Amino acid sequence: MGLSVQNIIDESNELLVKTYGLQPVIMDHAKGMYCYDSEGKEYLDFAAGIAVASLGHAHPKVLETLNKQAAHLMTCQASYVTETKYKAAKSLVEASCFDQVFFCNSGSESTEAALKCARKWAYDNKGKDCNHIIAFRDSFHGRTYGAASVTEKRLSQPFFDPYIPNVDFAEYNNIESVKALINDKTAAVIIEPIQGESGVIPSDPAFMKELRALCDAHHVCLIFDEVQTGLGRIGSLFAYQSYGVEPDLVAWAKGIGAGYPVGVMGAKKEFGDALQPGMHGTTFGGNPLASAMVLCTFEEISKDSFLENIRHVSSILFDGLERIAKDTGAITDLRGRGLMIGIDTVFDTKKLFRALQKNGFMGTLAGKATLRLVPPLILQEDDARKGLEIIEKTLREME
Ligand SMILES: Cc1ncc(COP(=O)(O)O)c(C=O)c1O
Repeated sequence: MGLSVQNIIDESNELLVKTYGLQPVIMDHAKGMYCYDSEGKEYLDFAAGIAVASLGHAHPKVLETLNKQAAHLMTCQASYVTETKYKAAKSLVEASCFDQVFFCNSGSESTEAALKCARKWAYDNKGKDCNHIIAFRDSFHGRTYGAASVTEKRLSQPFFDPYIPNVDFAEYNNIESVKALINDKTAAVIIEPIQGESGVIPSDPAFMKELRALCDAHHVCLIFDEVQTGLGRIGSLFAYQSYGVEPDLVAWAKGIGAGYPVGVMGAKKEFGDALQPGMHGTTFGGNPLASAMVLCTFEEISKDSFLENIRHVSSILFDGLERIAKDTGAITDLRGRGLMIGIDTVFDTKKLFRALQKNGFMGTLAGKATLRLVPPLILQEDDARKGLEIIEKTLREME
C-alpha cells in the first residue's frame, strides 16, 4: 500500500468513526484456521471474527457456493421465493423446533425482528398495554435501538435516551428476580443461553427450565438470543437443544453465514404469524446469495460427524486448560461450553491478549477481564493442541 503499517492505522483512525479501538496490525488474508497480517505474520485463529467464521477461512464449499450463486442469481426483491431461500428455510425449520424463519442481515436485526414479533403477538393476544420486556443483567443483544434497549449497557449510556420503554433487567440465573418482574403486561423475556459479550457466563439448565415454565404460566413469549451460541458453537446444532428447553422465538446470526452477513429469526407458528405483510422486512434479507450461504453452512455443520468433532476438540481444550490452570496457577476461572470458552487469569487481560497476538494466536476479549476463545468450528485436534501450547507458553512468559 506504500505507507507503513503504523501510518495506515493512524490515518484509518481519522477516516473511520471511532467505534472500535484499532488493532496494531493490518489483517491481510486467511486460510483454514490461520490468518495472516500484511507483514506475513501467521495467527492461529481462535476468534473467528468473534464466532463468525464457523467454517474457517476460504473453505472450498464456501468459495464454490459464493462463486456459483453470484454467477447464477445474486439478488432479487425479498418478495420473490428463490430456490436457495426455500431450501435454507426448509432446512432450518425441519431441523429445529420452529415453524417459520425470517431472514435478515445481522444479530441486531434478528433480535430486532424477534422483539417486534413478540410485541405484535402480545398486542394481538394479550392487549395493547402488554408491551413490557424482561431482559437480563449483563446481557448483550446488539446495537440497533430495540436490541440496545434490552442490552444492560443502556443503563450506562444515557446519551442515547430514550430507548424503547418498559424494559426491566432481571438477574441472570435467578428465577426469583424474574418472578418479581413478570406480570400481565409482560410480552416477552429475552435471554442468551450463554452470555457472550459479558464474559462467557453460562445459564444454569435448571434455571432455563424454570424460566420456560414461568413464561408458560404467564403466557409470555420466550426469546432465545442464540446469535453467538447457535449453529454448532456450543456442541449442539442449536443452543436450546443443550438445555432441553424450546423458546418461542430465536435469534441466530454470526456463524450461520460462515462469514457472509446473515441473521435469522426462527419462530413457532403462533408467534411468527403475528407479523403480516408490511409490518417488517429488509431489502437484503434472504437474498439468493445470503440464503445459499446459510444453506451451505447448515449442510456442513449439521453433519453428525461435524458436531461430534466440536464436542471432541472442546473436551481437549477444556482438559488442556484445566491442566494449564493447575500447572501455572495463572488461570482463575474457566467457563463455557463447546467452542465458546471464557478464561479469567491473574494477568491484565489486554496485556495477555497482546502477548498472545505476538505469539501468533488470536483470541478475543469479553466482559471486564475475560479472554474468550471462539475458534472456527472446523478446529481439529492438532490445532487445538497447538492453541493450548501457545496459551501455556504465553502465560509462563508473563509470570
Ligand atoms: C448474543 C448476541 N446478540 C446479538 C449480537 C449483535 O449481533 P450483530 O453485531 O451482528 O448485530 C451479538 C454480537 O456480538 C451477540 O453476541
